[in-house]
Amino acid sequence: MNMNNYESTIKFWDERFGKSLSTNKRYDPQKPIPIVEIEEGLKWLIKEADSINDFGCGIGTLLFRSLFLGTKKAIGIDISPKAIELANHTSKLNKMDNKTDFKVGGIELLKKIGKNSIDAGVLFNTIDNILPEDAILVLKEMNRILKKNGKLLIKLNDAIPKNELEENDYYQLISEDFYKEKSGLYFWNLSDTKFKEIISPYFEIVKYVDFPFPQTDSKNRLYYLENKK
Ligand SMILES: C[S@@+](CC[C@H](N)C(=O)[O-])C[C@H]1O[C@@H](n2cnc3c(N)ncnc32)[C@H](O)[C@@H]1O
Repeated sequence: MNMNNYESTIKFWDERFGKSLSTNKRYDPQKPIPIVEIEEGLKWLIKEADSINDFGCGIGTLLFRSLFLGTKKAIGIDISPKAIELANHTSKLNKMDNKTDFKVGGIELLKKIGKNSIDAGVLFNTIDNILPEDAILVLKEMNRILKKNGKLLIKLNDAIPKNELEENDYYQLISEDFYKEKSGLYFWNLSDTKFKEIISPYFEIVKYVDFPFPQTDSKNRLYYLENKK
C-alpha cells in the first residue's frame, strides 16, 4: 500500500475526528450501537470470539462495544492519526487500555499479525473507500490472520447507478467503477456481483442484510462472512 495515495483520505478523517477530539463527547461502550442491524451483526460476530481486529476502525466504536459485550482483545488499525488518538482516549476513559491495541497505519500493520491468530474481523466502509488493489490485499490479509471458520463482518455503502455518478461532477472517474469524490475520499462502486467475486477466494457469505443509513440517506449493506481455509 502506497501511503501517498491516501493523503486526502487522511486529511478528510483527521479534520472530522479532530473536531470530535476537541469536544468532550466520547462513545460510551455500554450504549448499544444505535442501528439495530449493526448491533445484531456485532453480537453474531463476537459470539465465542476472544479476539477481534478492525481495519479502518475509525474511533474504535465497534471494538469498544465488542469489549463491553465480552471480547477480551481488540486490535484497531486506522490511517488517521486523529482517529487513533480519539480511540486511545476512549480506551483510557473506560479503563479498557489493557485490552486494546490501536495503531496508526495501513496494510503493513495487518502483515505483522500472525496467521490464524484472530477470531473475528470487521471492515466497515473500508474496502469500498480504498484503492481496489489495496482492498483485495486487505481481504487476503484478513483471510490469513483469521482462524479457520473465523467470522468477518463487512459493511459497504450502497452501489450507485453508473449514470448518476457520471452526471455528477462530485465524482471523478479514476478507473472502472472507481472514483475520487470532491471530499477527497475514494469510492469503489461495488455491485453485489463484483463484491461476491472479490471475496469468493477467501470468504463465504452466511447472511446478508441491508438497512437505511441515517448519515447518507441511502442504504448500507451488511455481509456476514466465514473464513474459508
Ligand atoms: C467511513 S470510516 C469508518 C470508520 C469505522 N469503521 C466505522 O464504521 O465507524 C473509514 C475509516 O477508514 C480509514 N481508512 C481509510 N483508508 C484507509 C487505509 N488505506 N488504511 C487504513 N485505514 C483507512 C479512515 O481513516 C476512516 O477512519
